[in-house]
Amino acid sequence: MPSPRAAWRIDRAGSLDRLRLVEEPLEPPGPGEVRVAIRAVGLNFADAFACLGLYSATPRGSFVPGLEAAGTVDAVGAPLPGRPLPAVGDRVIVLTRFGGYATAVNVDSRYLTPIPAGWSFEAGAAFPVQALTAWYGLVRLGAVGAGSTVLVQSAAGGVGLQALAVLRRLGAQPVAVVGSQAKIDYLAAQHGLAAELLLLREPRGYAAALDAALRARGARGFDVVFDAVLGRWFRPAFARLAPEGRYVLYGAADFMPSGTRRGWTRLAWRWLRRPRLDPLEMISQNRALLAFNLIWLWESVERVPAAYAELAALELPAPHIGACYPFAAAREALLELKAGQTVGKSVLLVNPSA
Ligand SMILES: NC(=O)c1ccc[n+]([C@@H]2O[C@H](COP(=O)([O-])OP(=O)(O)OC[C@H]3O[C@@H](n4cnc5c(N)ncnc54)[C@H](OP(=O)(O)O)[C@@H]3O)[C@@H](O)[C@H]2O)c1
Repeated sequence: MPSPRAAWRIDRAGSLDRLRLVEEPLEPPGPGEVRVAIRAVGLNFADAFACLGLYSATPRGSFVPGLEAAGTVDAVGAPLPGRPLPAVGDRVIVLTRFGGYATAVNVDSRYLTPIPAGWSFEAGAAFPVQALTAWYGLVRLGAVGAGSTVLVQSAAGGVGLQALAVLRRLGAQPVAVVGSQAKIDYLAAQHGLAAELLLLREPRGYAAALDAALRARGARGFDVVFDAVLGRWFRPAFARLAPEGRYVLYGAADFMPSGTRRGWTRLAWRWLRRPRLDPLEMISQNRALLAFNLIWLWESVERVPAAYAELAALELPAPHIGACYPFAAAREALLELKAGQTVGKSVLLVNPSA
């Protein structure tokens, strides 16, 4: 028998104004699946890009946004050979290839991992996407090691704070870039970064600030740049990669429109002015550009358990939750996230009193 659920659905991508809260039936979980009663949903910048239709992986037609959540196992489907299922009542983190903005979801059990002991549902929901992004970009692609000097763009955002946590575990040296003085103050107070290693992203003086940070670190260049902003900030940082340096690019927040719609003219202008690199120069300068979209992991579900295990081995702390919103306020929460002022993770709460 299908059970009822509430979900935020968008009939087709293009505008955040099209997001609607609907009641709809959810089929029982199929073989190898579990149904999770969701208690908290993690918001991602990519959710806004998906609703606007600016994310390459956006489903065609009607879809429910959302890449991650946390809750309790509420029903299990028939087991499949070699794939043990969790028990009803287990507290779990869940990755969803879209579909997380709902009060219940059915997922392949390999997308689940237990919520670490002592963590809240909010912390669980806030964790997997941004921590996996930081792990994959910095560990797998960036090959960051002890003592590496790493420039982190948007260091006070969800991925940014996870990147700082990963760098701390690896014994690397961060230089943090953010878009506002309030975020600099937050990072100075909470992460103890010295003033010369905290940079405000403003056009005038950006290159000189990068040089000053490198001097303060005693480094001849950045071993790794971890960036999801792109735009005019790309070239000055790429030019300051050390020989063998790796620029890890995983997003383009600079393309985010300011309103609820796409704004084609501004987007076209940004696209025409996007940075370009000459591969021959990259050889002679001994600098690399690596780019990724973690959606590949959602599409290779058989690789998810190993990725969760590598992440668990880092023993990262519970993520910083910057803002919690009621489930009914998803649109407002996305608008605030999209405006670029949030610190840490934004989370939707489902049935907080249950
Ligand atoms: N490739 C992947 O697999 C992958 C996975 C997860 C996330 N991402 C990307 O990683 C980035 C961070 O994601 P998140 O979910 O953790 O979000 P977030 O960092 O909490 O928020 C995004 C940040 O982008 C910065 N930003 C720069 N230009 C902006 C603009 N024009 N409008 C709005 N914000 C702007 C803002 O911080 P500052 O102003 O302080 O820089 C903003 O807070 C996003 O670009 C996202 O798309 C990529």
